[in-house]
Amino acid sequence: QAKSRHDYQPPAFLIPTIDLHFELDSAATIVSSVMQLRRQTAGAALKLDGQHLKLLQVLIDNKQLSDAQYDLSGESLTIPDVPDAFELKIVTQIAPVENTALEGLYMAGNSYCTQCEAEGFRRISYFLDRPDVLSEYRVTIKAAAASYPYLLSNGNKIAEHITADGSRIVQWHDPFPKPCYLFALVAGDYDLLEDNFITASGREVALQLFVDKGQAHRGDFALQALKRAMRWDEQRFNLEYDLDIYMVVATDFFNMGAMENKGLNVFNSKYVLAETATATDRDYFNIESIIGHEYFHNWTGNRVTCQDWFQLSLKEGLTVFRDQEFSADMGSATLCRIDAVKLIRTAQFAEDASPMAHPIRPESVLEMNNFYTVTVYDKGAEVIRMLQTILGKEGFAQGMALYLKRHDGQAATCDDFIRAMQDANRYDLSQFALWYSQSGTTQLTASQQYDAATQVLTLTLGQSTAATADQSVKKALLIPVRIELLLSGNEKQSHLLLLTEYDQVFSFNNISNEPVVVWLEHFSAPVKLQQQSSDDALLHIAAFATDGVARWDAIQQFWSRKVAEVIAGKNAQHVLPPKLFQMMQSWLRDPGDDKALIAELLSLPDFETLAEQYEQIPVDGILSALEQFRQIIADRLQSDFVSCYQQVPVSAYQYDEASVGNRRLRALCLGYIAFQHNSQQLLQAHYHQADNMSDTIAALMASQQAQTDTFKALLADFSQRWNSDVLVMDKAFGLAATQPSEQVFTSIEEMQSHPLFSWKNPNRVRALFSAFSMRNPRQFHSADGKGYQLLQYAVAKMDAINPQVAARLITPLLSWRRYDESRQQAMRNVLQVLADSSSLSNDVFEKVSRSLS
Ligand code: ARG
Ligand code: ZN
Repeated sequence: QAKSRHDYQPPAFLIPTIDLHFELDSAATIVSSVMQLRRQTAGAALKLDGQHLKLLQVLIDNKQLSDAQYDLSGESLTIPDVPDAFELKIVTQIAPVENTALEGLYMAGNSYCTQCEAEGFRRISYFLDRPDVLSEYRVTIKAAAASYPYLLSNGNKIAEHITADGSRIVQWHDPFPKPCYLFALVAGDYDLLEDNFITASGREVALQLFVDKGQAHRGDFALQALKRAMRWDEQRFNLEYDLDIYMVVATDFFNMGAMENKGLNVFNSKYVLAETATATDRDYFNIESIIGHEYFHNWTGNRVTCQDWFQLSLKEGLTVFRDQEFSADMGSATLCRIDAVKLIRTAQFAEDASPMAHPIRPESVLEMNNFYTVTVYDKGAEVIRMLQTILGKEGFAQGMALYLKRHDGQAATCDDFIRAMQDANRYDLSQFALWYSQSGTTQLTASQQYDAATQVLTLTLGQSTAATADQSVKKALLIPVRIELLLSGNEKQSHLLLLTEYDQVFSFNNISNEPVVVWLEHFSAPVKLQQQSSDDALLHIAAFATDGVARWDAIQQFWSRKVAEVIAGKNAQHVLPPKLFQMMQSWLRDPGDDKALIAELLSLPDFETLAEQYEQIPVDGILSALEQFRQIIADRLQSDFVSCYQQVPVSAYQYDEASVGNRRLRALCLGYIAFQHNSQQLLQAHYHQADNMSDTIAALMASQQAQTDTFKALLADFSQRWNSDVLVMDKAFGLAATQPSEQVFTSIEEMQSHPLFSWKNPNRVRALFSAFSMRNPRQFHSADGKGYQLLQYAVAKMDAINPQVAARLITPLLSWRRYDESRQQAMRNVLQVLADSSSLSNDVFEKVSRSLS
């Protein structure tokens, strides 16, 4: 029963207003919904979506319907015969405490919480659960006053009182019409952090952050980040916040990162709570970026929403792009970009090569929750970035302004967005629009020719996109290829090439000597690049390119060649030129100001990045090559790592660009030093002297990766120290699950009986099992199939509890065709076991069946 994008029909009815009443009760919440409806399509029956609801009453214009007047089959409520304009009242009963899927209204500990995107509202009441039905909401919530000091919903609070029998009743009104996926309700007892923000035009906005009791001291960073995001959107895109209040609630029970509900964001507490002792630099970065992301949705998502779920990238790709630009402005732009590139090259390329391949605007969907993907989000953001590259920052901003002006208050499409960009810039984007409909990763081939006599440089570019699981024919895309020419004597030139053909030649005159060409500078398009440049040229780029991302990229490509050579049988020592070590040495001796970049330049590519360069992934070959290179580097530069480690300044913890860089470089050095047999003391010292979680984790990871005995002791100490703090215990679960040794299986077993571990909490399950399957290639791909069996066990167990999380967990198994025969067999076996189970959710079924067919 998959849905197809082309089957879109406008809604047969509109629902301009809805009045919702909740009487909260964990086992029997009563929801009454009063809606005004208006017919759009003559003759159509009214068909409302609903799931897991107990229907108590249906009334039309205050008259109760008899059973014969409606049909309750499948997951809908159909009323065949309704007037053109009428009031519909529906009363339902739901059981939040039984809702372990965490969609709709559920219990998060003692609190009530909702998640309605994509199609969770239908678990609250019967409704037209689709993003193109926009309503003005009034919400009344009733609960025991003493246990529920806070009863929250979208918009402005208009009344609150306590009844004689001790119930609290709060009313909310959201003046902005919205689709039901943006509805939210939260009820509980929280610590509240308050602040305010004055918008550019001088309006005061109250900011409120609700966190679990006792966590208030961990909320300040998020609140400050929110203010930075609000200011940034004013300055960069001229966009102001529109309500008088902005609320953020942090919960430990959440399927995803966070949710942009109008005026009432709900966040996974992992992406809100931070203090020096418990949060790493990465955590701080994520919090700022996700706080930004959800805030930016207020315009790109809420004020302008999506016509249907196939258009998801309209809001998500665009909003990820916006949060990336925000993060780049707040910290190191180079580091942000490197992170984004890594994600595309690992998870996104893998998705394109998998049975789940889809364009950023999918064509066919069974379970919408399966399409909140790295393709829709992150490749989607790359597509927006390319637009900005092609149109220029100014032109892009004009396109944004036109898009928001045209579609404010509407449910729009990706085509609407392209049209606004096109009209604002008078630029034909019809070929560019193929990025929305074509799936797969494009291969770019690049070569150069130089004629010294005529001083002409000729660059040849070619593109090809292999067929994907969902689509066989691929057209030529418009690909912006940024290049830099590195000429002799430090002379440099930058150019933007627009590749529109399958093969194209670009010529440059008056080039006085043969340059080294930096291709795809700043990763100007989400493609794979095959280039002819010599190893020497790559190292030259790593040393001299202007763009830090290009420098990192060149050395990554260098390493991936070397890995390939070792896999092909060459000696690991012999393939590494002296020049490489000289360069690494000079970075270590004089790291300069951008220490974080230096740390990246000194890092080997990770397994996942390398794996994506092979159709058939040589698991053991990649792991062994990486291991050999790591040991060679550690040995050859031993004293340089030690002295760099000692020279990098250490100061009391602060989260700013320079100190993050210092910590990163020290951690990098420590990681290599750990491979020396006498490193135990230093690892111990680093761990015990740490005044912050970044350094603590650095010691744990270094000792873990080098498989030292120290690791066991440190992890035991760490788990002991934090055994009552869920957020930090998630890190311990992750460390246990990413041990490269076989010990990992015992550790995962033990961790499952930790008092804080719970199958009902997605963060816990992800911390243990996603870490294992996505960040422990050695043991996940263990030749005896034990890793696959462990994941199958977790997926099956989880599917009965929370299908959405189970379906994400299964991802690494779907690509079974890309491994050697015996691994293929082992992976297929566990997929088959899942497929044969009688009670599979839609979520897992869609993936397993695509994968096995
Ligand atoms: N819109 C949210 C965000 O990106 C994510 C919601 C995901 N929900 C889901 N059911 N998959 O910010
Ligand atoms: Zn989003």
